Amino acid sequence: MQRFIVNGGNRLCGELTLQGSKNSALPIMAAALLCSSECVLHGCPRLTDVYAASRILNHLGCRCSFSGHTAVIDPSQLSGTEVPEKLMHEMRSSIIFMGAMLGRMGECTVSVPGGCELGPRPIDMHLSALRKMDVDIRERGGRIICRVSGKRAHGAKISLNFPSVGATENIILCAVTAEGETVINNAAREPEICDLCAFLRKCGADISGDGESRIVIRGKESLGGCGHTIMPDRIAAATYLSMTAAAGGEIILKNACVPETEPFLSVLEQTGCGVYTTADRIYMRSGPRIKAVRDRIRTMPHPGFPTDAQAVLMAALTTAEGTSVFEENIFDCRYRHTDALIKMGADIQVLGKVAVVKGVEKLNGAPVEATDLRGGAAMVCAALSAEGTTEISMINHIDRGYENMEEAVKALGGDMIRV
Ligand code: EPZ
Repeated sequence: MQRFIVNGGNRLCGELTLQGSKNSALPIMAAALLCSSECVLHGCPRLTDVYAASRILNHLGCRCSFSGHTAVIDPSQLSGTEVPEKLMHEMRSSIIFMGAMLGRMGECTVSVPGGCELGPRPIDMHLSALRKMDVDIRERGGRIICRVSGKRAHGAKISLNFPSVGATENIILCAVTAEGETVINNAAREPEICDLCAFLRKCGADISGDGESRIVIRGKESLGGCGHTIMPDRIAAATYLSMTAAAGGEIILKNACVPETEPFLSVLEQTGCGVYTTADRIYMRSGPRIKAVRDRIRTMPHPGFPTDAQAVLMAALTTAEGTSVFEENIFDCRYRHTDALIKMGADIQVLGKVAVVKGVEKLNGAPVEATDLRGGAAMVCAALSAEGTTEISMINHIDRGYENMEEAVKALGGDMIRV
């Protein structure tokens, strides 16, 4: 298994062009299934989760190929409606293929997604919403067998009891070719939902209200293909900014989606870092030592502080001046990275969904194991500021969501290699 070896102590300086968003590319690749002709996706990040999605598309009979950061998907020969358990379990978000297959073929058989490192990942909201759209759903031995009752799914008025990103995406993917109108109340407002809807509108879908809590979709008979550029990854931005806050330095992030990154930037500024933005660039300077964040950092649905940035910012705050308090409100089990940070010398106390991070003078390098995608990134962040060498194993977690992280860190002057 590959590992990262990081020697801490270097300041990070330089420019980095941000990768395309994993959490936008994945639902848009699923959405391509709905189209009757070719889709070309530019700015598609080269990630293991993206390659897992392409394996599902190819298994279903769509041809999906890559050339650099461009993915070409030809869904015209779509024939399959079953995703094997093995492919379903390669990544948690494969569940969004459900809505797309129902929207195109009227049926699908998928698996209950495995739990993941963040705790149980229920899909009750997905299933109850699709049932309201006249989809017959049976669960048998871990498999979910779905079939629309008539020729197509039917539009419905759906109120989510939590603004679930995946459930919102699945409903949209099924509704764009359903009979009639679908209204989603309490919809997720994440920027990746807006990017998905922008892609679908280019294909001819009739969607309004995305980015707000009420989304209206009027079903169409069919959708055509289109060309689309995937939005930048706001969580990758938060990650490299947190690394610079931890190690000290001065960086410029290019190809940044600034407004969408604001919920993170407004907290980062409270650490005393200098943050300046233009339309598509984020400039940041970090002094010798950052300050603790005075207000409690609560993870919330967008436009609140993003849960995916919790671990990396925590890693940076382990050596801040003062004490910071996190409250993780989205996932039940998203503090697994704290054990590794404590092993490196951090002073963190976890009490349920609250984590109290008391800044220490310095961390020490140590052998640690990535527990999940963002937790693994947090370990790199801590290692860059630590004294000595840190060896990070299980970096397959990190490769799911970050394109060549070691190349990006090296480009900024960090001492990090993959072995
Ligand atoms: C998406 O996951 C993202 N993944 C996650 O990013 C992100 O953390 C999350 O949204 C929240 O922003 C992708 O987009 C591929 P949810 P998703 O449905 O859709 C519960 C990363 O690091 N829930 O909004 O799975 C659920 O258990 C990943 O890039 C139900 O109870 O998130 C969780 O506690 C991690 N029933 C909460 O809602 C359901 O039917 C939020 O989940 C669905 C969800």
